[in-house]
Amino acid sequence: MTGKAGRVAGKQALITGAAGGLGEAMAWMLAREGAKVAVTDVNLAGVQALADAINAELPGSAFAFRHDVAREDQWVSVIDGAVQAMGGLSILVNNAGVGDVLAFVEQDTVACWQRQFEINLLSIMLGCKHAMPHLRASAPASIINISSIAGLAAAPGMGAYNATKAGVWMYSKTVALEAAKMDWNVRCNSVHPVFIKTPILDPFIAMAGGDEAKAHERLSRGIPLKRIGEPDDVAYCVLYLASDESKFVTGAEFKIDGGMTAQ
Ligand SMILES: NC(=O)c1ccc[n+]([C@@H]2O[C@H](COP(=O)([O-])OP(=O)(O)OC[C@H]3O[C@@H](n4cnc5c(N)ncnc54)[C@H](O)[C@@H]3O)[C@@H](O)[C@H]2O)c1
Repeated sequence: MTGKAGRVAGKQALITGAAGGLGEAMAWMLAREGAKVAVTDVNLAGVQALADAINAELPGSAFAFRHDVAREDQWVSVIDGAVQAMGGLSILVNNAGVGDVLAFVEQDTVACWQRQFEINLLSIMLGCKHAMPHLRASAPASIINISSIAGLAAAPGMGAYNATKAGVWMYSKTVALEAAKMDWNVRCNSVHPVFIKTPILDPFIAMAGGDEAKAHERLSRGIPLKRIGEPDDVAYCVLYLASDESKFVTGAEFKIDGGMTAQ
């Protein structure tokens, strides 16, 4: 289904970290299902190319912004620009995140924790805080925070990533309960993918000597469905949560993990 008749027709979405990977897939899916999309990233060339490609298929649907999600001043200006460009804001997808530092407890550093805290967790509070007045004005509205299966289950060497993604999980519930208490008609949920084929897995490919198939096979060993995921596996969940089909769903967590945490 495409264009105005789609599952999120008439809605306006802001997606962070959209220059590639999961954010890019979400932007395409929401735009093809009728939403306008503001795609933001520290990589402006990447989101501009994405917006151009979406607009070539769906004219006037996409707008690109340079955006460091760890910077409060940039949240204020990007949301202002996105609201002006799209005529409102009814979907916020806090997707940007980093997980590139593996460190055991004795080797862990303040710099590593600060970087992941700011990009993975502080950014979520800043996004919810500054988007909320606009989401309330455009209700029914939906916040979707991209956590990770690593926010629900720990792994050696991933202290900062585990802790920040667990923070995203719990903070999403706080926002959901506050919005419900205030009758704002703004829902908030978290999404928890396991390994999905995006550039965030590059360090694992490097560890496999550059052999992508070998890295993917290694990563899929603990997954009951015996494979890692595709970006659209996550984007379909985001589409459901962004649409009014999920109007009774808030404060929940969605595991996109091939059965990993069922074991
Ligand atoms: N791919 C997976 O296996 C996987 C699994 C679980 C969770 N996640 C989560 O999904 C989200 C998206 O990951 P991905 O796999 O698409 O990764 P990715 O590395 O492909 O994309 C992340 C994007 O975020 C951007 N970014 C980094 N720092 C930023 C900042 N300070 N401000 C704005 N943008 C910034 C990058 O430029 C990049 O475009 C992340 O939050 C990640 O933790 C991914």
